[in-house]
Amino acid sequence: MPDSQLKDTCEAACLPAPQVSADDNSGPTQDAGIAREDDRMAVIQLGLDDGYAYTKLALADGRLIAVPSRGRIGQAGITWMDSAQQQIFEYDTEGSRYAVGQIDGESTCYDGYPISGLHRAIVQHAFQQAKLAGHSVHVVSGLPVSAFYFKDGQKREQAISLKRDSLKIGVRPVSAGGLYATQRLPVAVAFHEVIPEALAAWYDQVIRQRADGVTLDARLLAASMAIVDIGGRTTDYVVVQDQGIVHRSSGSLTRGLLDVQAQVAREIQKRFDLETLGEQTLAAAMSSGSVRLHGRAHDVSELVKAAQHELVVQIHAETRRQLGMGAELDTVVFVGGGSAALAEHLADWFPQQRIAEHPGFANARGMLKYLQYVCEEPASRN
Ligand SMILES: Nc1ncnc2c1ncn2[C@@H]1O[C@H](COP(=O)(O)OP(=O)(O)OP(=O)(O)O)[C@@H](O)[C@H]1O
Ligand SMILES: [Mg+2]
Repeated sequence: MPDSQLKDTCEAACLPAPQVSADDNSGPTQDAGIAREDDRMAVIQLGLDDGYAYTKLALADGRLIAVPSRGRIGQAGITWMDSAQQQIFEYDTEGSRYAVGQIDGESTCYDGYPISGLHRAIVQHAFQQAKLAGHSVHVVSGLPVSAFYFKDGQKREQAISLKRDSLKIGVRPVSAGGLYATQRLPVAVAFHEVIPEALAAWYDQVIRQRADGVTLDARLLAASMAIVDIGGRTTDYVVVQDQGIVHRSSGSLTRGLLDVQAQVAREIQKRFDLETLGEQTLAAAMSSGSVRLHGRAHDVSELVKAAQHELVVQIHAETRRQLGMGAELDTVVFVGGGSAALAEHLADWFPQQRIAEHPGFANARGMLKYLQYVCEEPASRN
């Protein structure tokens, strides 16, 4: 593995230099309740793409896991008689309780979300769903490009360190109650680094893992590559050329698939004169184009199509603004769940474009690769 080459790439690409603060070796916090020496030996590495719509995990054992970024402050108010049927889970952090899972959640679409208790509870839920209870984890996560850099390319150090520290605050799973409920052990974050989201997808492209080892894709490394990450709340652009970020063509548009969802919700409420619309009903309408109300199915597919079209027009305009016609780009890679959802609308924007494999997980995979091969982690991992 040409490690030094990767490090050079890291610096040239203006990525956050690997930062290991003094307390990074301290393992899980007492608050999390699992600071045992043997647990520290069993630290697990994770790529964590903690988006506004879905929280995605990439694990070194190859598992890719996504949970909806859905939860709200307060108790679920339900006691599950059979823990296997449990669909809403509660978590305590910094003295507040959060309910996460199949619930009508609060919107995550606000700037403070990545450093909120709601975010920590949702991330802890994703860790629990990945069956990591009781483990200590080393994590690389992301921020949208415009939240990571000022437009002149300087890093937003304060925002980055706030996010880095927030995820290390302990979160305790709350017992579901009921006869057979068991106490789930918390997952503690012992090390956390933050990188720009779309840039993670670039690492995913250039670092190749094969059965016989890990290599850098020399052709892609030398190429000028644009990454377009279409997410829930944001669409991110990063151009990497000569292993450096071209800041004038990189940034974020605050538009994504959650805007489509919000518009469809408004239109359904107008058409059927509804004061509210449940999140589950809306999700079903988005995926099937049909909404079930008063015991009857109604076709709303044209509302979904119109909202998608509006978003595609906005993203297309921003893409031209950021990348122009892309004549000097060797390749344009679309990532993010939105690239899967809008695939048929993205055809032929650039002759050299492609959609990444499992595009929704491209950032999470890149974050894991950054942690495994680029970043300097503390030594407490086995
Ligand atoms: N495999 C898929 N097929 C179709 N649509 C998908 C798929 N995966 C995700 N989506 C849709 O894409 C949207 C964006 O998903 P994604 O996980 O990229 O958002 P996010 O990363 O949470 O958002 P952001 O990047 O703004 O924080 C989701 O709201 C979902 O509707
Ligand atoms: Mg995203």
